[in-house]
Amino acid sequence: MIALGIEGTAWNLSVGVVNEREVLVLENSPYIPSSGGIHPREAAQHHSEEIGNVLKRVFSKISPDKIDLVAFSQGPGLGPCLRIVATAARTLALKLGKPLVGVNHCLAHVEVGKWTTKAKNPVAVYVSGGNTQIIARRGKRYRVFGETLDIGLGNAIDKLARYMGLPHPGGPKIEELAKKGSKYLKLPYVVKGMDLSFSGVVTAAQKYYDAGERKEDIAYSFQETTFSMVAEVSERAMAFLELDELLLVGGVGANKRLQEILGIMCEDRGAKFYAPPKELMGDNGAMIAYTGLLMYKHGYETKIEDSMVLPNFRIDEVEVRW
Ligand code: ATP
Ligand code: FE2
Repeated sequence: MIALGIEGTAWNLSVGVVNEREVLVLENSPYIPSSGGIHPREAAQHHSEEIGNVLKRVFSKISPDKIDLVAFSQGPGLGPCLRIVATAARTLALKLGKPLVGVNHCLAHVEVGKWTTKAKNPVAVYVSGGNTQIIARRGKRYRVFGETLDIGLGNAIDKLARYMGLPHPGGPKIEELAKKGSKYLKLPYVVKGMDLSFSGVVTAAQKYYDAGERKEDIAYSFQETTFSMVAEVSERAMAFLELDELLLVGGVGANKRLQEILGIMCEDRGAKFYAPPKELMGDNGAMIAYTGLLMYKHGYETKIEDSMVLPNFRIDEVEVRW
């Protein structure tokens, strides 16, 4: 069975085609803001201008009549962006005469991680621009055991980067700067039970910048502090739930220092650490295609009248039947 998936909840308009075993095609068209962060309307405009081109590129690599189902990111995400994706998916499903499957974006990050790493029953650390959650499966749901109380870790990094004059997305640039940092600047460490908060850490880091501290040291201190916070709640989740696998997913997961810190923590407790390949870590159409395929095989299909976008869709709203 072959599934096509459309992703476009925020910055990356992406179409992936997969079968049960592998990714067959993956075409991306990232939206890069001209200034500042992601503007929802501008991003949606980008997606609507690009969706035709991306689909053309996909269908130059695989014939449309090979596609058995069309999956799309139904939420969570930016409303205007989601609507472009949903409209494209409905049109394509109707045109091909194939079933439509609406997919939860967070679930897709986790499922593609499990698929590509072979992790069986992990605690998932989902760190992206908009989300930071510690997730594990209990019975027929993925449950959120801890999460950010304000902004996602990726947004926090992007905000700090912008403040220091670096263009969006800031994640990879902060990672490079941090490698050259050596002086640890004390920052607030905000873990509340199983939850995290990043906005105060950003403000404190911005003050160091105003005071003339080096960008490298600020980036280094910011990463060490926030990544330790993430490691602490991840470890507590593993201990409480008695699970010995940790799976890192979401765009921030591409960060090698974060991978290293979580890897060391897992090694210390005799647990296994998993991270999917970089191109499937951040937003991508293959994760939507794969999760759509999994859902369809377990009886899910989204009728056109039920395919409205869900900007606040949470992972624990989906019954996991597999
Ligand atoms: P979601 O809807 O799941 O919140 P998203 O729209 O934020 O997803 P992702 O691709 O999952 O998209 O994550 C993007 C984030 O990842 C951005 O904030 C970006 O700065 C961050 N990022 C990318 N590479 C790195 C890196 N090497 N280090 C740290 N952060 C990174
Ligand atoms: Fe994402």
